[in-house]
Amino acid sequence: MTSQDMSAEFYRNHASQYATVAHEFRQSVYVRSSHPSLRNDWDALEHLTQLAPGKHGLDAGCGAGARDVFHLWSQGYDVVGIDAIEENIRVAHDLHPEIADRVFMADLRQELPFADEAFDFVMCNAVIQHIDPEIVQTLVLPELARVIRPQGVLQLMFKNGEGSLSVYDKDYGVERSFQLYDETRLLEILLQQGMTLVPAESPEGLGGLLYFADGKTVDHCLFFTRKVAGSAASLHHREVGGR
Ligand SMILES: C[S@@+](CC[C@H](N)C(=O)[O-])C[C@H]1O[C@@H](n2cnc3c(N)ncnc32)[C@H](O)[C@@H]1O
Repeated sequence: MTSQDMSAEFYRNHASQYATVAHEFRQSVYVRSSHPSLRNDWDALEHLTQLAPGKHGLDAGCGAGARDVFHLWSQGYDVVGIDAIEENIRVAHDLHPEIADRVFMADLRQELPFADEAFDFVMCNAVIQHIDPEIVQTLVLPELARVIRPQGVLQLMFKNGEGSLSVYDKDYGVERSFQLYDETRLLEILLQQGMTLVPAESPEGLGGLLYFADGKTVDHCLFFTRKVAGSAASLHHREVGGR
């Protein structure tokens, strides 16, 4: 069984519980953080919306219940969410029927069903931990970059380190496995896609490489990258007429 199969089975079996844990913010408050102003998932999200040049966003791997899609939509954002697991989408539709047409199935291991430069911002939080690194490098990250418009922003949050990690998750009573990622390597790939790391604007501000541990004390890295206007990647899409 691959790690993707194992995580798919986990989400299928625990979709409803996952939505409860997420909506109660049980695993969303950080226990260690490199920046005092980065305390939880919504500090990161708020920073993303401040950086974004517009209100049209994508939550790539939105999770059971699509908590953050609903949160942003409630604040007036024109946001959509995708996830690979049918049960996760069903729970989102049940919990938040108002946004049912905004949350649908799509697999990040395939080309995304969106036009080039469609979004002002994209967030992909705690998702690549379930995807093979080769696919992340060759397909997932290039696709996320493709659908962001020039000056648009990608928020990428991932479990940080080398190899993989197994940890007991008390909220579900099971052992879970995650693929870890090196931030330098991910940034290199995004750079090739015409994205640049967004630095902090002040010593206390969010930006650059941010680090925290979640409630399971697993180390994470988070960064924001911006698509450079006129980058080779965005010019190429223009020249070939986009998709
Ligand atoms: C830990 S949850 C994170 C959910 C949400 N982003 C959050 O921050 O709360 C990981 C999510 O990624 C989804 N996922 C895993 N592999 C995926 C893939 N290949 N394509 C789309 N979604 C995927 C899972 O179904 C799950 O909902």
